[in-house]
Amino acid sequence: MAKGQLFAKKPIALIQQEFSGGPLKRHLGPINLISLGIGAIIGAGIFVMTGQAAADFAGPAVILSFVVAGLACAFAGLCYAELASTMPVSGSAYTYSYATLGEVFAWSMGWLLLLEYGVAASTVAVGWSGYAVSFLKDLGVVIPAAMSSSTISLEDGMLTYEPQINVVASLGILLVTGLLVVGVRESASVNNVIVVIKVAVLLLFIGVGFTYIDQANWTPFIPPNEGGFTYGVEGILRAASIIFFAYVGFEAVSTAAGEAKNPQRDLPIGILGSLLFCTIIYMLVAAVLTGVVKFDQLGVPDPIAVAVDAMGLPWLSFIVKIGAITGLSSVMLVLVYAQTRVFYQMSKDGLLPRLFSSVHKTFHTPASGTVLLGVVIASAAAVLPLRVLGDLVSLGTALAFTIVCISVIYLRSHAPDLPRPFKVPLYPLTPILGVIFCVLFMMGPIILDIVSKSIGYDLLGGMLGSPGEVSRDPIALGILVSYIVIGALIYTLYGYKNSKIAHPAPTPAE
Ligand code: ALA
Repeated sequence: MAKGQLFAKKPIALIQQEFSGGPLKRHLGPINLISLGIGAIIGAGIFVMTGQAAADFAGPAVILSFVVAGLACAFAGLCYAELASTMPVSGSAYTYSYATLGEVFAWSMGWLLLLEYGVAASTVAVGWSGYAVSFLKDLGVVIPAAMSSSTISLEDGMLTYEPQINVVASLGILLVTGLLVVGVRESASVNNVIVVIKVAVLLLFIGVGFTYIDQANWTPFIPPNEGGFTYGVEGILRAASIIFFAYVGFEAVSTAAGEAKNPQRDLPIGILGSLLFCTIIYMLVAAVLTGVVKFDQLGVPDPIAVAVDAMGLPWLSFIVKIGAITGLSSVMLVLVYAQTRVFYQMSKDGLLPRLFSSVHKTFHTPASGTVLLGVVIASAAAVLPLRVLGDLVSLGTALAFTIVCISVIYLRSHAPDLPRPFKVPLYPLTPILGVIFCVLFMMGPIILDIVSKSIGYDLLGGMLGSPGEVSRDPIALGILVSYIVIGALIYTLYGYKNSKIAHPAPTPAE
């Protein structure tokens, strides 16, 4: 394998030229950008995962976990803003790596983005199915568990395998895929309406819930560590790596760089504004959740609904479920859409089969690629449990963020004169802190936990598996290793041979 090709870079001038051919108008102001961010951010992370993060790892201190995860995103977000203002293109972090670090990094980034967007869509779909099933049950329609839960699940800490398929979650993804095939896109106004619904529901939950808080539930605020990542400071970090998921999607703001009226001022406002807004809402929701219900009862698929039930307010329960179902639908749509865009760009560059960039004659969308991705994402949603999916997303995302932070440093030193409408403040501290937070606080606890459970030995200190407590769980590690191997094979057997940058033979116009 020629070393030269692995590090071949796509010229920034070419990227800018490809982009300038597009008909995009600069029409997005700071409020639209913040709204875009909130639309992509608020989803299963807060509606579903906060409960388990509190129950299994942090207790009420999950409130602090939101600060740690939010900081990691803020540092990475500023780096995204700098790259996006330099290369305002679709394809996001994949394109940035192609221009800075070279082809093999770009390929890896694209493959990681499948974890960030594609698997995140599966995860949100599993969360969505939890609320949808519970809502239908309220209406008297009972969906059997065999059609609404995964083959692999964790019950009382024990890994169980039951041949069942989460049909509801898969249907959610297939529905969204269908919409994307026929070309329904998130228009700014639809997004704004959904954002208002999501935020209003959470504010209502916070406002009403505050009066039901029993402060005894917050004591102890940081439960003492019980070994591994169970509670204590270790638990706060592990919970942070889980609810990191709740912030996934904020980089959608950076992909709008080419449509922002004033990217230099508005991109950081959009990214940091939406992150700050969501962090505050998340902390308040977590405070109410753990204040109303003892944290050890929150390890359920619909923790907010459980807290509302504890308040004894059926009307609020109804509103919360509607809010969750609507809000999560839009997140699924945005995530699957983002995934199709990344693969579209990779396919255009010759790194993936043309199927992903062939445009349907009637719908003018990359229909065949969208359908294939939809089926893969729906299958993951059908069989995998939320915890495993969530960890994979957080891991892939933290690694992608790390590469973005490194790209900023690389580009500043290798192309110092490149026009940068937005520059990260406090360079080089900001990207360095981004790498430290993503590697140490987000990826570190996940990898330690996944490896510990796979080998049955708690790498933080001692044997795992007091009877009935923790079982050996090689699933996540197995999936991760297979994922890396499959990715390496696809690049070697296809991308490496077909790369248009490395083999710039004239290609027929599409
Ligand atoms: N941040 C998004 C969510 O929580 C992916 O669902």
